[in-house]
Amino acid sequence: MNLIFLGAPGAGKGTLATLLSKEYRIPQISTGDLFRAAVKEGSELGRQVRGIMEKGELVPDSLTVELVKERLSKPDARGGYILDGFPRTVAQADALAEFQKIDAVINFSISDELVIRRLSGRRVCRSCGAIYHIENMPPKVEGTCDRCGGELYIRDDDKIDSIKNRLRVYKEQTEPLIAYYRDRAVLREIDSSKSPQDSLAQIESVLE
Ligand code: AP5
Ligand code: MG
Repeated sequence: MNLIFLGAPGAGKGTLATLLSKEYRIPQISTGDLFRAAVKEGSELGRQVRGIMEKGELVPDSLTVELVKERLSKPDARGGYILDGFPRTVAQADALAEFQKIDAVINFSISDELVIRRLSGRRVCRSCGAIYHIENMPPKVEGTCDRCGGELYIRDDDKIDSIKNRLRVYKEQTEPLIAYYRDRAVLREIDSSKSPQDSLAQIESVLE
């Protein structure tokens, strides 16, 4: 199944993509994770996107589409995938439609207040990328990943100014995709304000 997870920053796309990817045995493809890996490596792409990401702006469509095309050409994506955080503009959605058929788009709905609470308490593992929250999903040992023992850190774009800018950018550039995919009859909606288990059950139910 070829799926897209659409939703505001902090809506829980990454958390749920990890859960569903295990269950359906299809890869989670997060453009944010791919860009962060490039920044960590210090590659040319990483140098180009670092400042943009820190401010919470969008990386240019051409770079993003290129990255996704390359990732989707890998063998593990042949049996389906979850696109987490892509597309984020109408131009990206049009480009994707030229070479992929999407089965369903899950829209995660959530309030701005909850987004701010979730992102202000998020911690991410530097080694394996596992996602925690200091109150909602704390690790067993503070600052340490349960899964791999790696160090937990605060993402550079999880500062309040950057969070507010990401919400603004989401509303201007990404929210129009809800109508875009509704018009194409592939949109499925979930209320992502409850627990991850509740969101998972809703996703399974809308995909049936
Ligand atoms: P990206 O990494 O995609 O960030 P984002 O869209 O802002 O989304 P987040 O990763 O912040 O949130 P999420 O929905 O995954 O939530 P999570 O599961 O972590 O993109 C980063 C940047 O890269 C962009 O700003 C842009 O610069 C660039 N970029 C990426 N894709 C691009 C594209 N297509 N085009 C252009 N530029 C692009 O959860 C958040 C927190 O809440 C965690 O702490 C988690 O533990 C907690 N939580 C999750 N679910 C629940 C729940 N149900 N109950 C309680 N707590 C929960
Ligand atoms: Mg994410």
